[in-house]
Amino acid sequence: GPLVDTVFGEVERACAGHGGAVRRATDEPDARPADLVLALTPALPAADRRPDDVREPIAASDTDPDAVPAAQVDLDAVRAAHVDLAGAALGAEGFALTRHGQVTVVLADAPAGLLYGLFQVVRLGEAAFGPECPVRVHRPALGRRMLDHWDNVDPHPVMGQVERGYAGGSIFWRDGRPRRDRARARAYARLLAACGVNAVAVNNVNVHATEARLLTDRLDDVAEIADELRPYAIRVHLSVTFAAPVVLDGLPTADPLDDAVRTWWAEATRRVYARIPDFGGYLVKADSEGQPGPFSYGRDHADGANLLAEALAPYGGVVHWRAFVYNHRQDWRDRSTDRARAAFDHFAPLDGRFRDNVILQVKHGPMDFQAREPVSPVIAAMPGTRLAVEFQVTQEYTGQQRHVCYLAPWWSEVLRYRPWGDGGRSVADVAADGGDLVAVSNVGDDRFWTGHPLAQANLYAFGRLAWEPGLTPEAVLDEWIDLTFDPARSTGPALLRRTLHEVMDDSWRTYERYTAPLGVGFMVRPGHHYGPDVDGYEYTPWGTYHFADRDGLGVDRTRATGTGFTGQYPPPWSQVYESLDECPDELLLFFHHVPYDHVLHSGKTVIQHIYDSHFDGVREVEETVGRWQRLAGLIDPDVHARVTERLTEQLRCAREWRDQVNAYFHRKSGTPDAHHRPLH
Ligand code: GCU
Repeated sequence: GPLVDTVFGEVERACAGHGGAVRRATDEPDARPADLVLALTPALPAADRRPDDVREPIAASDTDPDAVPAAQVDLDAVRAAHVDLAGAALGAEGFALTRHGQVTVVLADAPAGLLYGLFQVVRLGEAAFGPECPVRVHRPALGRRMLDHWDNVDPHPVMGQVERGYAGGSIFWRDGRPRRDRARARAYARLLAACGVNAVAVNNVNVHATEARLLTDRLDDVAEIADELRPYAIRVHLSVTFAAPVVLDGLPTADPLDDAVRTWWAEATRRVYARIPDFGGYLVKADSEGQPGPFSYGRDHADGANLLAEALAPYGGVVHWRAFVYNHRQDWRDRSTDRARAAFDHFAPLDGRFRDNVILQVKHGPMDFQAREPVSPVIAAMPGTRLAVEFQVTQEYTGQQRHVCYLAPWWSEVLRYRPWGDGGRSVADVAADGGDLVAVSNVGDDRFWTGHPLAQANLYAFGRLAWEPGLTPEAVLDEWIDLTFDPARSTGPALLRRTLHEVMDDSWRTYERYTAPLGVGFMVRPGHHYGPDVDGYEYTPWGTYHFADRDGLGVDRTRATGTGFTGQYPPPWSQVYESLDECPDELLLFFHHVPYDHVLHSGKTVIQHIYDSHFDGVREVEETVGRWQRLAGLIDPDVHARVTERLTEQLRCAREWRDQVNAYFHRKSGTPDAHHRPLH
């Protein structure tokens, strides 16, 4: 099939670069289908190569290893791998990797496993061809590792071609049409497969008029993209509008319990699968920020999600139904309405009511992808529902790909968080149990894919953590550095690696230091969300407040005196967050309203922490700028120049944040800086 062709193409390409060749055992007269085996041996050094040499440098087979002519594959290696594996099933995507004698063997039960095994060999580089090593089985922790593109087909008048996109135009769409840049689409598919991503939603969750039609008369456009992604084992999903029967076909209602509506979805979905047999399913943002949903008909989200799930079920499709539902027409004077509570309040009571092909997609924090939030309590509240945890790889609130902000440490913290305390399951465990990991894409048509070249590491880290959530952020970054910069060929490999780690490892915490303090969030400019504006969202209807006054700041979300949000967590966190003494410093202002002279665990007052962290954050960016200069001449000059340009802006913006936040809280609190630095 096409996937096996992809693997052969990849191997062929790799071999050609080293003077090697590929022999396909399926072409042999006695070949018969069985296991998938890819056996690789290093090419002989050119000096040793003779025209009559019978050793093939690489042989690959999608047949029974016994049927592969001995001249091509070291059968002992393959047999040994089989023995070591002892019949363990590898699954649809898993693979086994071993090195025996002079041969590196990848075994898989299915073509996608062979593909991922090949990328693992690439990741290991020369180490894959080193000393013998026993068989190691690799299987993904998460079955679906999905990217949501917030791409519009027609450029939106305010949001543009890609909503919250910071890497140029859409990779799929331009000015109302598919881009039809096949080479680029293939390269993108290859990039995603190398990261481990296996599903993509091709349009924005906010579904506007043109995009609504992708489901029906513009389905061919979606099919074209599916054709480009399929060879790399990536399935296509589509964001649909809940009002589709009304807006596309003039039905009088989109009521999920109406028979005509159910028939409409069944028929639309039948046509989708007739055109795209491996279609993944629908993604729906309903009753959220103005999108239509079941509330209009007096129905709830289970009714809505189940309607689409029923239509998809015969084909094995799934609905990703987003839990990002809250009141965006709030009055800031109303302290009882708490946006952080909303997803739990709407969805937890519905646990157990969703069909089994509904996956409830929950943002990892209760608010909206801030630089610091607690984990969403919804993740612990719905044992009878499949959950997808949603990350934001696009850096809407984390510097918009103008700031270097390596997000893997943040995601890793979230994935390792144990909602039921030590000994209980982690967020990664919950998601792995029938759910997914999903992220909003950061890719566009920019020539570095992600605007900021270092933001590629976030894309890579998302895919890798979804495959293996226990990987450390540092290890993932090392992999990315090896694959991207090939330090082994650099004239200063140690300096290159060390500098990239210094620039990136702690960059998320640096960003946190110079932006909104102690988990309170927002303080960004309204609309585009870039740069500081402490009161930008304070009196708006969006429910995103810090409640700073002359006496203190923060949101009281306790049960005792606040909105009661802490009660949405199971113990021990319900107690930890409730308690001013136990609440972690970094989340203090998310959960509590405190006076400026409140003393943190760190021993500093809140106000002094604000000043210090903002000075520290800017100093760290200054250091980053200096460190980056050391890499001039060590990496591609274009990449170096692009990052240098972005760092100049990051430093400017970090200083702006520091000055605005410090000045604001100096004026509010009247407290001077203990170190007498200027508070502009
Ligand atoms: C944020 C973002 C929106 C997006 C929304 C969502 O609010 O600013 O652009 O539509 O999240 O996740 O649906």
